[in-house]
Amino acid sequence: MNEVYMDMAIEIANGGSGFVNPDPLVGAIVVKEGRIIGQGYYKAYGCEKAEIDAIKNSVESTKDGELFINIEPELSIEDKSYIDFILNSGIKKIYLGMENPKSGFKGQMRKILSHLGIEVVYNILKEKCEELNEIYTHYVNKGTPYVFTKWAMTLDGKLASRTGDSKWISSEKSLEFVHYLRQRVAAIMVGENTVKVDNPLLTTRLKGITISNPLRVIVSKYGDIPLDSNVLKVDDNVKTLIVASTKIDEKKEKEIISTGAEILKIEEVDGKLPFKEIVKLLGEKNIDSLYIEGGSSLLASAFESGIVNKVYVAIAPKIIGGQNAVTPVGGLGIEKMNDAIRLKKVSHEIVGDDVIFKGYIAE
Ligand SMILES: NC(=O)c1ccc[n+]([C@@H]2O[C@H](COP(=O)([O-])OP(=O)(O)OC[C@H]3O[C@@H](n4cnc5c(N)ncnc54)[C@H](OP(=O)(O)O)[C@@H]3O)[C@@H](O)[C@H]2O)c1
Repeated sequence: MNEVYMDMAIEIANGGSGFVNPDPLVGAIVVKEGRIIGQGYYKAYGCEKAEIDAIKNSVESTKDGELFINIEPELSIEDKSYIDFILNSGIKKIYLGMENPKSGFKGQMRKILSHLGIEVVYNILKEKCEELNEIYTHYVNKGTPYVFTKWAMTLDGKLASRTGDSKWISSEKSLEFVHYLRQRVAAIMVGENTVKVDNPLLTTRLKGITISNPLRVIVSKYGDIPLDSNVLKVDDNVKTLIVASTKIDEKKEKEIISTGAEILKIEEVDGKLPFKEIVKLLGEKNIDSLYIEGGSSLLASAFESGIVNKVYVAIAPKIIGGQNAVTPVGGLGIEKMNDAIRLKKVSHEIVGDDVIFKGYIAE
């Protein structure tokens, strides 16, 4: 049963998706004599902890109850009020999905609470808990955003038709998946041509939940995007950052800034904006996760620079042909199969008519 309760904690932790970054997603369940008596989750950055929420929400006394939390909380011996709250709740055993990866907090909950008579057990559904908070773990360890790529392609490996048309390659169901990914991440990135050809909004559109829009990041070396582009319509709910060269024309820069978008200027290296530098600077801006949506040239730059962590691909049962139709990862490409970028822990699922493939870049 412990796995079932932890699975529920994971499920409800997702309620904080898009609102807790750069903190982890956390869900908590209180169980007593085999009954679930309380549940709670971390709702937004700086809000009450999930386990406190769960204990407060409990419908009967939590004395002698058990608490399930998907990730070890940041706990230190100085957190007197938190420790007193847990002691006063009467909880006798705590199950954790994974250790907190932050140095100084790893394993602290057991160290602190076991002396006070509360048993703490780690690693219940560890792998699933680690996947839920892969963004958090990466950001804590590296200080740069966790990078996802996702593209939709036809069965014959095309990102768009020869005229650049890509609306829509995948089914409505897989498009919904895109919006869940947008909800989860702190930033979404596309290249300049995608803005020109598709004029995307890059906002999150999901029914029945409160929306969180990621920061829209557009790579545009000299700011050559139409000023009436959807991504340059900025307001309190949706912001845009243009990543440009330090050589961008001053007039162009002023025009872009006048739309409300911000500009991040980076030194060119061999005519390109180095992605390693881009993610470093985004990390410094508290961006813990970046979803690169395309197109072909931008994805090539991202893979060449080695910043990608996780790949999603929606493969649609359509064939469009055309030697000039763009493929997902452009650039020069590799010479020998031996040099291919390899993926590990691959899996797939059928979504609508499409197959969504998932894998991690092997280090
Ligand atoms: N099916 C899908 O999931 C999907 C998703 C997105 C887009 N698309 C399609 O993809 C097509 C657009 O792809 P695309 O390859 O033409 O355009 P793109 O990748 O959106 O943008 C290309 C631009 O980005 C620049 N760029 C790339 N890496 C750079 C770097 N490191 N530094 C500075 N600039 C960099 C390129 O400059 P250089 O020329 O100097 O390299 C080029 O000007 C459209 O047809 C769109 O519909 C499909």
